[in-house]
Amino acid sequence: MTQHYFTEKPKSVFKKEIFQVNIKDLMITINSGSGLFSIKDLDFGSKLLIENAKISAKATVLDLGCGYGIIGIAIKKIYPDSDVWMCDVNERAVKLAKENCTVNNVQCTVLKSNIFSNPLFRDKSFDIILSNPPFSAGKKICFQFIEQSFHHINKNGSLQIVAPHNKGGESLKKKMLEVFGNAGELTKKSGYRIYISKK
Ligand SMILES: C[S@@+](CC[C@H](N)C(=O)[O-])C[C@H]1O[C@@H](n2cnc3c(N)ncnc32)[C@H](O)[C@@H]1O
Repeated sequence: MTQHYFTEKPKSVFKKEIFQVNIKDLMITINSGSGLFSIKDLDFGSKLLIENAKISAKATVLDLGCGYGIIGIAIKKIYPDSDVWMCDVNERAVKLAKENCTVNNVQCTVLKSNIFSNPLFRDKSFDIILSNPPFSAGKKICFQFIEQSFHHINKNGSLQIVAPHNKGGESLKKKMLEVFGNAGELTKKSGYRIYISKK
């Protein structure tokens, strides 16, 4: 049976990969491997989001669908006073995201969670939610990321999502407009855009 990167309990034999990401003058080591998204290198969309996300120095930030944790770790490195949380439904991703926090010497809260199902999210909201959403899991899940994020964002906070505009991104922007009443674009490059909705 094919196992996707968004499988909760990957059964594939774990083949480890390690690579380094050089972003915003930072060198970040990533432990990755089979059963995850973008196994061998940083995804173009994730890089674009890290480089262009609008973050204030002491923000509380959630990397929703964190994979091996690159977005959250990079944000914590760039903004050391931020309070960064990350979550993923894939328990292998969660394990590696925790390892990667240790390897890169950052303290973040990493949770296994089906979107916001983890009880620690019950009364928790964030200034900023960042996501490179799981298109392969289907639009319905991506829409749920947007709908549920609305309830976990502080007043004046924002949801910032990266996506390939002509391959599904446009519909995410529409959904963000429907849920938040506004949807703008922070940047666009090589077919990818970063959408932002403010609360
Ligand atoms: C496109 S990947 C991005 C991974 C990582 N943020 C990165 O930039 O490399 C989307 C991630 O969303 C996760 N995901 C899929 N469905 C989810 C769900 N229901 N709840 C939480 N995370 C989910 C996947 O396991 C995957 O790691």
